[in-house]
Amino acid sequence: MANADSLPEPVMKVAAISGSLRKSSFNRGLLRSAVEIAKEIIPHMEIEILEIGHLPFVNTDLEVDNSFPPSVEELRAKVLQADCILFASPEYNYSVTGPLKNAIDWASRPPNVWADKPAAIMSAGGGFGGGLAQYHLRQIGVFLNLHFINKPELRVRAFELPAKFDGDGNLVDDKVKEQVKELLLSLSAFTRRIQNRVVLS
Ligand SMILES: Cc1cc2nc3c(=O)[nH]c(=O)nc-3n(C[C@H](O)[C@H](O)[C@H](O)COP(=O)(O)O)c2cc1C
Repeated sequence: MANADSLPEPVMKVAAISGSLRKSSFNRGLLRSAVEIAKEIIPHMEIEILEIGHLPFVNTDLEVDNSFPPSVEELRAKVLQADCILFASPEYNYSVTGPLKNAIDWASRPPNVWADKPAAIMSAGGGFGGGLAQYHLRQIGVFLNLHFINKPELRVRAFELPAKFDGDGNLVDDKVKEQVKELLLSLSAFTRRIQNRVVLS
């Protein structure tokens, strides 16, 4: 007879969002790498990358009869259905990018679909590897009631040699890939804890 240990892990839906819209973006590359790693090593995690570049700017005049523009409705539905969130964002002028903040704000409109979701952040950028954007995102997450994992921290200094990404923004560095794997495992474990499916010893 099957016991709990032999049952396959239930699917965990991860909504992944890049703060950079650039085709060869390093941060988009981090997300693509996360998708590949999950497929290979953490098969219960299904990571879907959500696009945010086509969203209109937040403008509450676009909210009619408690509904949102179609692209916003789609984003909100995907976030709502997700078990947890994975952000990858560069640092723009010591903060998150405008497109990411715009997407966050749309999905925060009542009812706030971020509420109570576990989340993780990774970033690739300049000297601090996008760290200041991470801290601003954590601050934004307080009001959204997102629950960020604290460890491991994943910041990639994208402009230091040896190159971590190829010309198309694909992650090519094995050490960073290992860090992405550890981040995903931590997010998975934390999500299960929040969902009360694991009893802490
Ligand atoms: C408007 C703008 C502001 C930026 N500000 C910062 C910054 O404050 N800190 C930093 O490390 N890099 C900064 N950068 C550089 C980005 O980290 C770099 O372009 C990075 O590659 C962007 O990520 P991406 O490859 O995912 O697009 C800035 C870039 C732009 C376009």
